[in-house]
Amino acid sequence: MKVVLIAVTSLDGRITPPGQSGPGFASAADQAWFPACLRHFDCSVMGRATWEQIPREPGAPAAHAARLRMVMTRTPEAHAARARPGALEFSDAAPADIVGALAGRGFARCALLGGGQIYRAFLDAGLVDALWLTLEPVVLGGGTPLADGPVRNGRFRLVETRALSADTLLLNYRRPDAAAVPLPSPDTLS
Ligand SMILES: NC(=O)c1ccc[n+]([C@@H]2O[C@H](COP(=O)([O-])OP(=O)(O)OC[C@H]3O[C@@H](n4cnc5c(N)ncnc54)[C@H](OP(=O)(O)O)[C@@H]3O)[C@@H](O)[C@H]2O)c1
Repeated sequence: MKVVLIAVTSLDGRITPPGQSGPGFASAADQAWFPACLRHFDCSVMGRATWEQIPREPGAPAAHAARLRMVMTRTPEAHAARARPGALEFSDAAPADIVGALAGRGFARCALLGGGQIYRAFLDAGLVDALWLTLEPVVLGGGTPLADGPVRNGRFRLVETRALSADTLLLNYRRPDAAAVPLPSPDTLS
């Protein structure tokens, strides 16, 4: 199974503005790209804090409803009433065990959706095959970092770049020992 870290970051590597939650600095170009690219994945993993920010059904974006969402929390039992097996699950397993279990269930493409704690844990464990980073032209000077703590396996190689707009770049990196995960072609994103 391929694990692709997807994030929008500032020039100084932040995923939220200081003192705020959510990627409020994301451009319209990224807001179009993100849900469209998610259609190319059959499962996703995110932290409980990030999951809390997704609008609740029935207003939930279709982009999030169409695939298994695995939410990492140290108290999965606290969310049991909201779980829907195969659609929304909660886990306190280690990242490697989550990836192994998803692969064992036949999932092929996993979108790693953050936030900073979850990105860090998967990067540190060497489980991220590719990073698809939207780079916005803003310096925030604070906020949640892409990796919220030390990372042992943080080196990547550039595969391709794409301009989402005149100001916003999309960067595709691969882990040095992993095959590239190409960006979806633009004609499959509309
Ligand atoms: N710019 C972007 O692309 C982007 C992407 C994603 C998120 N974000 C933003 O980032 C912020 C959230 O990031 P965050 O770092 O504060 O939180 P997070 O990574 O989304 O979630 C943290 C939570 O995940 C659970 N967790 C963390 N490590 C775990 C482990 N090893 N095992 C089991 N559960 C674990 C814990 O949940 P419990 O407390 O329930 O135990 C923890 O409180 C939000 O504001 C969000 O909007 C931005």
